[in-house]
Amino acid sequence: MAHLLALGLLAATASAQNFGGSSRDEDAFSYVQPENTTILGPYGHSPAVYPSPHTSGSGGWEDALSLAQDFVAQLTLDEKADMVTGQPGPCVGNIVAIPRLNFSGLCLQDGPLSIRVADYASVFSAGVTAAATWDRDILYQRGYAMGQEFKAKGAHIALGPVAGPLGRSAYSGRNWEGFAADPYLTGVAMEETIQGYQDAGVQACAKHFIGNEQETQRNPTYDSNGTLTDVIQEAISANIDDRTMHELYLWPFANAVRAKAASFMCSYQRLNGSYACENSKALNGLLKEELGFQGYVMSDWGGTHSGMASIEGGLDMNMPGGLGAYGMHPEAGSFFGGNVTIGVNNGTLDEARLDDMIIRIMTPYFWLEQDVDYPTVDPSSADMNTFSPRSTWLREFNLTGPRSRDVRGDHAAIIRRQAAEATVLLKNNNALPLRAPKTIAVFGNDAGENTMGPLNSDTFEFGTLASGGGSGTGRFTYLVSPLAAINARAQADNTSLVQYWLNNTQIATNDVADLLAVQTIPEVCLVFLKTWAAEGEDREHLKLDYNGTEVVNSVAATCNNTVVVTHSSGINSLPFASHPNVTAILAAHYPGQESGNSIVDVLYGDVNPSGHLPYTIALNGSDYNAPPTTAVSTNGTYDWQSWFDEKLEIDYRYFDAHDIDVQYEFGFGLSYTTFNLSSISSTQLVRHISAQPRQLEVQPGGNPALWTGLYNVTVEVTNTGDVEGAAVPQLYVTFPDSTPAGTPPKQLRGFDKVVLQPGESRNVSFELMRRDLSYWDIISQQWVIPSGEFVIRVGFSSRDLRETVRISPVRA
Ligand code: BGC
Repeated sequence: MAHLLALGLLAATASAQNFGGSSRDEDAFSYVQPENTTILGPYGHSPAVYPSPHTSGSGGWEDALSLAQDFVAQLTLDEKADMVTGQPGPCVGNIVAIPRLNFSGLCLQDGPLSIRVADYASVFSAGVTAAATWDRDILYQRGYAMGQEFKAKGAHIALGPVAGPLGRSAYSGRNWEGFAADPYLTGVAMEETIQGYQDAGVQACAKHFIGNEQETQRNPTYDSNGTLTDVIQEAISANIDDRTMHELYLWPFANAVRAKAASFMCSYQRLNGSYACENSKALNGLLKEELGFQGYVMSDWGGTHSGMASIEGGLDMNMPGGLGAYGMHPEAGSFFGGNVTIGVNNGTLDEARLDDMIIRIMTPYFWLEQDVDYPTVDPSSADMNTFSPRSTWLREFNLTGPRSRDVRGDHAAIIRRQAAEATVLLKNNNALPLRAPKTIAVFGNDAGENTMGPLNSDTFEFGTLASGGGSGTGRFTYLVSPLAAINARAQADNTSLVQYWLNNTQIATNDVADLLAVQTIPEVCLVFLKTWAAEGEDREHLKLDYNGTEVVNSVAATCNNTVVVTHSSGINSLPFASHPNVTAILAAHYPGQESGNSIVDVLYGDVNPSGHLPYTIALNGSDYNAPPTTAVSTNGTYDWQSWFDEKLEIDYRYFDAHDIDVQYEFGFGLSYTTFNLSSISSTQLVRHISAQPRQLEVQPGGNPALWTGLYNVTVEVTNTGDVEGAAVPQLYVTFPDSTPAGTPPKQLRGFDKVVLQPGESRNVSFELMRRDLSYWDIISQQWVIPSGEFVIRVGFSSRDLRETVRISPVRA
């Protein structure tokens, strides 16, 4: 208690500072650059953009907006403060009810692959897995099914999907929560997922906005007493120039706004010197003005570092409400809460801004009709919520309604199918599909069951991984291991022998010929390996965990038909890729609860793999650029800086620009059949194309002119093999020479997934929108189509481009 009181005092001091005087002068960008440091470069500071734009409900929310306005008009000032400030309660984030207005509060739950704090809920495939499908329908269906579960459990807001991290660094601990190291693919995935969630009736939250590209030092370091005013070092600053911001990191968030995401979550770290949750350029300027975002911005949990500066900078909701980095108890004070009331009463905070915050929060609520018969929060969620257990609640929560609702429906079948379709076949020397092998040996500590408690965990040597860790994980009601599914299949196939060795150390340090209990070599050796990644820490290496490489080498030394399957957060170096006895490699990522069934479906050919890499696998871990900033050599408060000097050169953009050989390129993935492309053609869709877009009224997603189709590119895809399969034709654009320096050699601007019978051909069309053919011009602050000839190429990966057509939208 003494501790809380002490914090209360400190909080009061901090809050008074943040609510006193002119808040604009206190915007963080002005205090992060002390004179005695030399952190300023060509970018790394953030211009002021005020005031925070009010929502207009444009883009279809007009009716809901007027309901929200009526609602706000009836609130007292204390109720208004409650509406923008989280409270400990049954969910990971809670806005309290106002019963006299029939408002039963808001329940916010993680996360991007499952409703995490819940029983009887499904664990879906991770974002990276879903992206590997390159399938719009799957992305939508996954979002829709997940949305149904959130709603049935009484969660109003699903804290996902993730477009930040985008995947600047191969090592970032949370890349798997997001989709692809490419803004276009991530943008499509954001749009489909958000539409899926929201069609099911739950609000989406696009996160983490923006520049959250590493975990190391994502939050400040405080002194050892845990007193929040004693910051030893502030969080890292992601320093991103204007063009890179628009063309890479903001791009998929623009899709999220266009898909009418109800909410955004600002990220933990600083952005160009100012905390992302009070960065007026990012929140007011880019998000609300330029992209026309009509919903609300909530802070990441404890990502609020000020009161007025954040509110004026564009933050609309403080989560989880308390003060400090890890969202400490509101009794310890809040930058919002009572300080909002004080701010209005003493004239520091314009009540119109506060009203706008609440209108932004309530408009999507009414738009999605969450005021009508919305399910109550499942009381079991409250019991499972370790983040704010009942003992921490300060307010009443009405937990009525059935307990432990089973919300899984028929989702197991969807999850099984989607993860199978996401599996990326990287190598296949005629090893797959398996044809009812009589003898099978299974190797690797990822094959079997967890043997040490809760399913799916980092500290477990033994057991399959089907998700990463942290707030983006799921709580498995069950998890089908590969070994269990292989055993079931072997039984059905009347296989004569399945043997298994699950101890990686044993496999790596022994001659596998000695381990094999029979003298003959098994028909196939299946090796299952894993790579853990989690929120809060970046990966230290890109190798497979638990000596995975040594395990493969040991098995392949004896077994001339070694098939490797990885369950991983994403990028792994695969030094054994060209080993002649490694006859197949499959990247299955984090598949969710049906893991074993999904991979057996692929191994045995019930599902023809059609996944493609949403990132590049380099030849060496050291080939990747943009590693996380893992340390600073000085101890100044503001010294953690991450300069995004590689600019647009992340992942394939970098490897292409420098002509670096890679193991498996972005977009790569094999099938059990083969495909061909032919007959490319392009059609211009509008008569005259200007370099600059017409200045239309901003709608959600920005200037609608940017989303206008300018060309259709059509190509014929043929299945040239002898089984049914799904092709993923991909369109890459090479900009004309007149484009400013630093433009990547090619960029993904279209893809599709088509199922074809043997011998079947189909035409596939890609619509190129204005944004797809533009670069961000930092001078005119516009998307501009450069003059000259574009080269449009379509192929089956970023380095397997088969058909070319040239267009010149704007003549020199
Ligand atoms: C994470 C968010 C998450 C929140 C609530 C934070 O630490 O960064 O992604 O939604 O916690 O669990």
